[in-house]
Amino acid sequence: MTIVLKVDPRQPDLEKIRQAAASLLEGNLVAFPTETVYGLGANALNRKAVERVFYAKGRPFQDPLIVHIASLQMLYEVVNNVPNEALSLIDQFWPGPLTLILPRHPSIPAEVSAGLNTVAVRMPSHPIALALIEHAGVPIAAPSANRFGHTSPTSAAHVLADLDGKIDLLIDGGEPIVGVESTVLDLTQQAPVILRPGGVTHEELMKVLDSVLLHGDESSIDQKDPMPSPGMLSRHYAPQATLILIESENSTNACMRIIAEATLLLESGKRVAILSADEDALIFEQLGVRIEIIGSSQNLAQIANRLYSAIRLLDEEKIDFILARSYGSKGMGLAILDRLRRAASKIINIE
Ligand code: TXA
Ligand code: MG
Repeated sequence: MTIVLKVDPRQPDLEKIRQAAASLLEGNLVAFPTETVYGLGANALNRKAVERVFYAKGRPFQDPLIVHIASLQMLYEVVNNVPNEALSLIDQFWPGPLTLILPRHPSIPAEVSAGLNTVAVRMPSHPIALALIEHAGVPIAAPSANRFGHTSPTSAAHVLADLDGKIDLLIDGGEPIVGVESTVLDLTQQAPVILRPGGVTHEELMKVLDSVLLHGDESSIDQKDPMPSPGMLSRHYAPQATLILIESENSTNACMRIIAEATLLLESGKRVAILSADEDALIFEQLGVRIEIIGSSQNLAQIANRLYSAIRLLDEEKIDFILARSYGSKGMGLAILDRLRRAASKIINIE
């Protein structure tokens, strides 16, 4: 049985936070909201508890976890060395959706980092996450609170749908502000490299650091390639439905192609849905398919925020095919593109 505690994010009930923190210190698994997605937390200093995270998710042990902290003091208990560029980034982006890869401190069990000498660390900005870590008084290792390979959870209901009975406690703190995972930035390379685009954009990082590289062509990363970020499998965040992604710089062309694909699928009797921007919805209406609006293409943060819940909703409705287009690769467009590519069974590139 998973205990569910409802907590108001604007005014966290400290009695409930204490209960959750005590549970963590007993070695239990506690899911909690962050500003990005829900995390599945374990005491990062407790090897057994950390192992339970992998079992609960069905996650391979080669896929390292992010350690969550609530203070700068804790940072020095997690990492061995904090370079100046990390301090500048921390100053600008913490607490917030930026994860830094730094040399691992010996007090962090190797299991957390899948045996690597590095560790991923971030300070979340969500009041419940911060209060939980503070009360526990230990760093908390937490992947996204979903079954391995599945869409990340942006509500307590999503967490239960994947992990009910497999975890001890869940703090229901409403919906996250960002809605996609943190940006993972590797600071142990010669030049900093974005291993996973996320809540802090490449452009924002470039304002603080002279150079920030993007890791390769994300769509080409698969299990055959060496994995700098071991969790970066090309198929991830996968819905039950078959997601077809139309990638194009030209939104009109992309929408026309979506109409053509939808028409073919409808003719063969499939249940079809379109993940649509506000502005595009009108031209899809004639098709008579399920249209799920995910926000305005003028507000990519909104689209990123609604993406996962829209995909989960369509899965609940037993849709066979989800059609989606890309939203460029600038700003939050890059994180949206990365997640859509990983969720997609088929990617169609057009002019
Ligand atoms: O927003 C987030 O980051 C959420 C919330 C809960 O904080 N967490 C999250 O964790 O997305 P997870 O486990 O789903 O993704 C962690 C990513 C994986 O791609 C993993 O490979 C990478 O971070 N990572 C962790 N430790 C690493 C390391 N030492 N070196 C390289 N990549 C690492
Ligand atoms: Mg994840």
